[in-house]
Amino acid sequence: MLKKQLNPKVSLISNSEEETKLCAQRLAGQLKQGDIVLLQGDLGAGKTTFVKGLAQALKFSSKKVNSPTFVLMNYYKAKLPIYHFDLYRLEKAAELDTLDFDDYFYGEGVSLIEWPERLGKNMPKQYYLVEFKHKSEHQRTICISCPSKPQPRPSR
Ligand SMILES: Nc1ncnc2c1ncn2[C@@H]1O[C@H](COP(=O)(O)OP(=O)(O)O)[C@@H](O)[C@H]1O
Ligand SMILES: [Mg+2]
Repeated sequence: MLKKQLNPKVSLISNSEEETKLCAQRLAGQLKQGDIVLLQGDLGAGKTTFVKGLAQALKFSSKKVNSPTFVLMNYYKAKLPIYHFDLYRLEKAAELDTLDFDDYFYGEGVSLIEWPERLGKNMPKQYYLVEFKHKSEHQRTICISCPSKPQPRPSR
């Protein structure tokens, strides 16, 4: 089970886009309402590909998954609702004030966030971290960890 391997960290090499999606599908099996997944890595490292794999596992067509371009977040009505953030185009931190992160982070779905280092003060306390590194044209190192300590969910 990935859960056991996640303690403290699981690291693997993906040799193709398909393998990256399979890796995402294994994580998808662990996800529950209110979970947050931070996806870290350079452009083209495989973050959006991973989101497609996750969405597929949660019964949403991966063909409809694309990085949000004109908005910061896309919503996918999957088995668990998916909030797909991509902060690459964020120009100033103030733009984040237009999003009510608590509604997503502690809402009914899962939040998947590309370029999470741009979250600033909105960085959640508990999350899965997925780190991608280019190894060669078709190879990526993917490292999944759960570095944060469990925190009680805030009462609403
Ligand atoms: N092992 C791999 N895992 C994921 N993507 C790969 C892999 N090998 C090649 N690719 C290619 O790299 C690109 C990754 O793009 P994307 O997932 O959009 O990256 P990001 O969202 O990190 O910018 C795609 O064109 C994909 O086909
Ligand atoms: Mg992307």
